Amino acid sequence: MCGIVGSVSTKTNIIPILLNGLKTLEYRGYDSAGISYLKDGNLTINKVKGRVQDLENNIEKNSFSNIGIAHTRWATHGKVSETNAHPHNVGHITIVHNGIIENFNKLKHKLEEKGYQFKTQADTEIAAGLLDYYYKKYENIDKAIQKFMKKVDGSYAICMLIDNDPNTIYVIKKDSPLIIGQSQDVNYIASDVPAILKYTKNYYILEDYEYGKVTNNNIEIYNKEGNLLKKELKEYHGSDLTSDKGLYEHYMLKEIMEQNTTIRKTINPYINNIKDLLKMPDLTKYERIDIIACGTAMHAGLIAKYLFEQYTNTKCEVFLASEYRYQNNFLNNKVLSIFISQSGETADTLAALKKVKEENCDSLGIVNVKESSIARAIDKVLYTEAGTEIAVASTKAYTAQVALLSVLVLAHAYRTKSIKEEKILNILEEFRSITSILNPILEDTKTYENIAKEIYEKNDVFYIGRGLDYALAMEGSLKLKEISYIHSEAYAAGELKHGTISLITKDTPVFSSATNKHINTKTISNLKEVISRGAKCYLITDEDIKDDNIKVIKIKKVSMFLKPLLTIIPYQLIAYYTAKLKGCDIDKPRNLAKSVTVE
Ligand code: F6R
Repeated sequence: MCGIVGSVSTKTNIIPILLNGLKTLEYRGYDSAGISYLKDGNLTINKVKGRVQDLENNIEKNSFSNIGIAHTRWATHGKVSETNAHPHNVGHITIVHNGIIENFNKLKHKLEEKGYQFKTQADTEIAAGLLDYYYKKYENIDKAIQKFMKKVDGSYAICMLIDNDPNTIYVIKKDSPLIIGQSQDVNYIASDVPAILKYTKNYYILEDYEYGKVTNNNIEIYNKEGNLLKKELKEYHGSDLTSDKGLYEHYMLKEIMEQNTTIRKTINPYINNIKDLLKMPDLTKYERIDIIACGTAMHAGLIAKYLFEQYTNTKCEVFLASEYRYQNNFLNNKVLSIFISQSGETADTLAALKKVKEENCDSLGIVNVKESSIARAIDKVLYTEAGTEIAVASTKAYTAQVALLSVLVLAHAYRTKSIKEEKILNILEEFRSITSILNPILEDTKTYENIAKEIYEKNDVFYIGRGLDYALAMEGSLKLKEISYIHSEAYAAGELKHGTISLITKDTPVFSSATNKHINTKTISNLKEVISRGAKCYLITDEDIKDDNIKVIKIKKVSMFLKPLLTIIPYQLIAYYTAKLKGCDIDKPRNLAKSVTVE
């Protein structure tokens, strides 16, 4: 993976189109980039380890082509290098590829026996070799592609040029997203809609085991048997990527600061009066809710679990999608599976969804990117309205997920009468006031900057909490480690003493939040335990706690349904200012991609 762009035109130079498309997808994270185009029967391939800008600088000025493909790579097979970057060329075939060819070793040996020699460590080169082998063998591209789909295990979105076929781009798709954009005299291919939005909003979606032929004025899509399909031309209605950083130094800071707006926008349809809650899906027929997601989205699921169980007496399990897809999930028609995803493209989450669909069980999506693969595949989708999230570390998408899930639980509580109407009205009032509640926390940047100064040179940081505060500790810890590269771990506050406390030494930072009056004293006791071993403690709380050994960040007292939204902001900003002090590439942390489309 990561980003694919292709274009074929009548007269237009497609090189700037490809570069612009790659730049649009840059925020998703990548380590190398490449482009390939045909001109007068000559194939040019240009690859760099580094940024799309480096690639652009590498391309000869005034280069012109009507047909080409391009890629940003996030290394899976083979180290980060110019050689391993895409496109890969073998014989007549040049491809860019998202996904993983799982049986590439076996295929490699077979192709080597036929005389092929490979220059890179990339599985994509083997895919190019296999396509070349079948293309030569059958002298028929349809047959070659159909055979390729039969032989290859794994996932692929492939965009292909054939050197002796200068007017067509071929595409092949399984388990990794690919679309074909259509406009007058120029057609486009992309892994993600935003890459082509500057040029067209009309596109076709390729489904698994479909392949296509794209010329400047024609698009044909076939199924794996080679039958021409009649596909629906879609129109994109989501927001485009015109958002810029504005006055902010980083997208992450901008995205943290706009959370009052994005939360409000997400929950607005459901909070104006109590009856609005009935616009939420009715969950009363389910005996169990399963929540499936990865990373930060999974952490949002943990908040929902707590609220479902505590306030509606509904059993709720949370699963990492990468585990869920390979385990026994005890599904039946009394279980609702909720899938949470910002991108709507995460490979594990999508695979887990397919598993639920195979069992004919109900599914509900909490998704940010409109018309993404998960949004399309799921029974019902509720969109978060976080807008485009550019920074790799998720912030505003997380709070939008948490807010939407909290309102979903509240609606369930209303239907099941598990919370009194009067209390629900109060919570709705608080949700309507979210902007004024969050603003003071967002504005208190000096506090977070000062804390960052105290921790940015540390090697280890710990986060602890109980209940909701444990779920928040997990998210706080993830934010710090992913962008500042400081090792951090989150623990249930009561668990630390069962081993991990041995890592606490003088001045080890320990962060905690205590927002549940029934168990706060327990968490404070756990802080005392680490303080007596030298730790330096920071506590986010809505209680009046005065302790010389604990630096307290005070938040407003609100209902449990809103507390996570308030508590996470200091954690996000402390992570941000710490990474800034360390001089890290905050919006594009090393090794990470925004949308993880491989398993
Ligand atoms: C961390 C982060 C990731 C994502 C995870 C799932 O800041 O962004 O942990 O939450 O990769 O991604 P989505 O939500 O797109 O499925």
